[in-house]
Formats: sequence, C-alpha cells, structure tokens
Amino acid sequence: MTATAKTTHGSGAMVKAEAVHKSFGAAHVLKGIDLEVAPREVFCLIGPSGSGKSTFLRCINHLEQVSAGRLYVDGELVGYRQKGDKLYELRDSEVALKRRDIGMVFQRFNLFPHMTAIENIMEAPMQVRREPKAVARARAEKLLDRVGLADKANGYPSQLSGGQQQRVAIARALAMEPKLMLFDEPTSALDPELVGDVLDVMRDLAESGMTMIVVTHEMGFAREVGDALVFMDDGVVVESGHPRDVLTNPQHERTKSFLSKVL
Ligand SMILES: Nc1ncnc2c1ncn2[C@@H]1O[C@H](COP(=O)(O)OP(=O)(O)O)[C@@H](O)[C@H]1O
Ligand SMILES: [Mg+2]
Repeated sequence: MTATAKTTHGSGAMVKAEAVHKSFGAAHVLKGIDLEVAPREVFCLIGPSGSGKSTFLRCINHLEQVSAGRLYVDGELVGYRQKGDKLYELRDSEVALKRRDIGMVFQRFNLFPHMTAIENIMEAPMQVRREPKAVARARAEKLLDRVGLADKANGYPSQLSGGQQQRVAIARALAMEPKLMLFDEPTSALDPELVGDVLDVMRDLAESGMTMIVVTHEMGFAREVGDALVFMDDGVVVESGHPRDVLTNPQHERTKSFLSKVL
C-alpha cells in the first residue's frame, strides 16, 4: 500500500474491489478481483468450492486483510485510515467499529446456545451500542415478526429448526442496522424443506432495499432476486452480468461446466 493512496473513493459504490489479491502464505487465493456493488443491489457470487468466495467476503468484513489491491466499503478503504497523505492500519477497536455496519450470515447459524432467540437479537445492540434493554427488545420483537418467528421469541436455539435458527441469525445481524449484508451460503446446511423460508426472508430484505452480497448455490434465488451475478473460479472473476444472462447464456467454458453441475 503506498503512502499516498486515497482512503476514500467517490464512485458511490457500496463495495468496490480493485485488483484485490489475498494470499495465505504461499497459497494465492484471490488473484486480482475487480467488482463493484451498487447501493440496494443484490449481488450474487457463485463458484466451486475453494474458489475464494468466503475469503472475499471475509476481506469485505475486515476479518482478513487484502494482500494487494484496494477494497472500499461505502467509499472508505477497508482496514486503513488516512492522516494527511499517509495511510495507517486501523486499530482493532477501529476495525470493530467498521464491522458493526456490515451484517454477516454464515452457513452455520452461530447463535449463542444459552440465549433465547430474542436475547440473541438483543445482545449486540445492548453490549456494543449500549442500548437500553427496552429499546433493544422492541426492535428484536419487530425483527422476529419480520422473519416470521414472533412466536419463537423465548425458544432456545436447540428448540428451533435449522431454518428457524438461520432466520434468527438474520434478525440478529439486522439488529445492528447494517448498511450491507453478507450471506455466505446461508441455506447450504439446511434440510431442503427449510430453505424456502430463509430465501423468503432474504427476498423480503432485498425488496426493502438492503444491499446484499450473497454467496449461494440457489440459482433460482439468484435469477429471481439477484441484480448481478459473478462466477468466480480459482481466485478470479470468470464471468459476470445479469443473473438471467449468465445463467441461461454463459460465455465461458468454466461457467458452463460449473452450471451444468449445479443447475
Ligand atoms: N485462513 C486460511 N489459511 C490458509 N488457507 C486458507 C485460509 N482460508 C481459506 N484458505 C484457502 O483459500 C482457498 C479458498 O477458500 P474459500 O475462500 O473458503 O473458498 P470458497 O468459499 O469459494 O469455497 C481454499 O483453498 C482454502 O483452503
Ligand atoms: Mg465458502
């Protein structure tokens, strides 16, 4: 990173990646990713296992630092702050602050097992934002209702199905009022009959205008809800475009071969 690099970027994109590389030791996992996610866009990311999808999401969310290139979220360079014309790596506390603006939902639900559904949703606003309990509870109730689980407020994760747990996990992420939501294969661990309810919640969220990056194998969701679709393989963007175009008329052999396995 050069000392004169700008930390802000006026393109108006919610996420902008410019030649993003990531290596783990000798393993070169992201090999120059360029992409742009507009505000309110549902941006779907597909690709074979090991292609770097999760790593890319983790870079956006400050869980990994890029090795080269630039990554901006909402106009700000991820991981750095500018003072004069010098760049400084953000301290952990500053990283934590930035991460609050980004909600992440993983394949596994990662709910706190000793807390009820509503307590899971109230936890971060109370602990991180020091919100009064009544305020956190009121919002959590609304969110539970929004994900169709108003009647499960006092259930513990072990008493909920996988699909219900994932919907609580989405509500928990929304409780921090993020400006961007990242989904990493949110339905991959679910029994097939539970997938639809989770996708419905995501569709509703998309309609509300949330900016979403969704790593998924649900091509129906990508086609119906996605505004953009990127096919990644081996750390590069192979092909991108409108989901309908990429899914019905892929241009590259690697895309065709992948789609023939998942469609
Ligand atoms: N922390 C890490 N240390 C070393 N290698 C990693 C680490 N995280 C991911 N990788 C490697 O990076 C590659 C891409 O992984 P990942 O981003 O999880 O791919 P995907 O989500 O597309 O399946 C894999 O080969 C994986 O083993
Ligand atoms: Mg992954």
